[in-house]
Amino acid sequence: MSETLPTVYEIQKVIAEADGIKTLVFKGNFDFAPGQFVMVWLPRVEEKPYGIWRTKTGEFRITVSAIGEFSKKLTSQKVGAPVGIRGPFGRGFSVLKKKKVVLVGGGFGVAPLLGLAERLEHCEVNFIIGARSKKFLFGEKYAAKMGAKVSIATDDGSRGTQCFTTDLLAKILEKQGKLTPQISGGVDAVFSCGPELMLQKVAQICQDAKVPSELSLERMMKCGIGVCGSCAMDDSGFCVCREGPIIEGERALKLVEFGKYRRDSVGERIEF
Ligand SMILES: Cc1cc2nc3c(=O)[nH]c(=O)nc-3n(C[C@H](O)[C@H](O)[C@H](O)COP(=O)(O)OP(=O)(O)OC[C@H]3O[C@@H](n4cnc5c(N)ncnc54)[C@H](O)[C@@H]3O)c2cc1C
Ligand code: FES
Repeated sequence: MSETLPTVYEIQKVIAEADGIKTLVFKGNFDFAPGQFVMVWLPRVEEKPYGIWRTKTGEFRITVSAIGEFSKKLTSQKVGAPVGIRGPFGRGFSVLKKKKVVLVGGGFGVAPLLGLAERLEHCEVNFIIGARSKKFLFGEKYAAKMGAKVSIATDDGSRGTQCFTTDLLAKILEKQGKLTPQISGGVDAVFSCGPELMLQKVAQICQDAKVPSELSLERMMKCGIGVCGSCAMDDSGFCVCREGPIIEGERALKLVEFGKYRRDSVGERIEF
């Protein structure tokens, strides 16, 4: 597929996953790593970045949370509607074999982690899924079908435990003895996607526990190919579309902007 020109795909299926969250399924055989993203173009509307995942070869999916004008238009598209796709772009998650891993996802951030879970061969997968409440919960059934051990955290306790995903993560790492580094064994890696304040906490817990983590970052994206500079972070110009969106937790914690602010389409700061 072209990096600069969209290829038009027709929507094959629309799945209502949770309140305001839909998955659009497309037929397509191109290769991508879990954690990579595509630029999605609606003719006569706009183009925006979305993570891609799949449950089997021959298809790809995007899962969209309807929050603004573009995402509401995208989630109201019907089967057969044409959508332009450019990509895949960026760096994906590391795919491990025969390891013990924890996946931590919040909201639509669960989607790329499902794509990762599907590729973690012979791994023991603990999948922590978070949402504000039961009606916004996405991904539980997919994760269970993929053989993961699923734990749910909701803000209001309407499903699973009333706590944050990061509380469940800390508990797992503690149980494995990883928060006291002299005890060996336990979790080999943590992968996470979701709100940035959650990612910051995940990175800190993992750093304290001496467990490697990888996180999926989001910044304003226009070109997706490292040209326009709108996704750059800090003075170093860390380019999220090219060098990310997946980044090691320890590296993210060194970025000044991480967990503090992002920039809008004209470069103004927006605090988290
Ligand atoms: C790498 C990456 C992967 C993403 N994956 C998903 C996904 O799988 N599912 C999903 O629902 N959303 C995903 N997003 C967010 C998505 O691109 C849109 O920002 C979101 O759907 C809101 O767009 P909107 O126009 O409806 O809302 P708006 O009200 O216009 O925007 C809401 C917020 O979205 C952010 N945003 C707006 N435009 C962009 C842009 N061009 N690039 C980056 N951020 C922007 C801004 O922070 C803005 O404040 C991803 C973003 C990035 C950078
Ligand atoms: S989106 Fe243009 S440089 Fe990253």
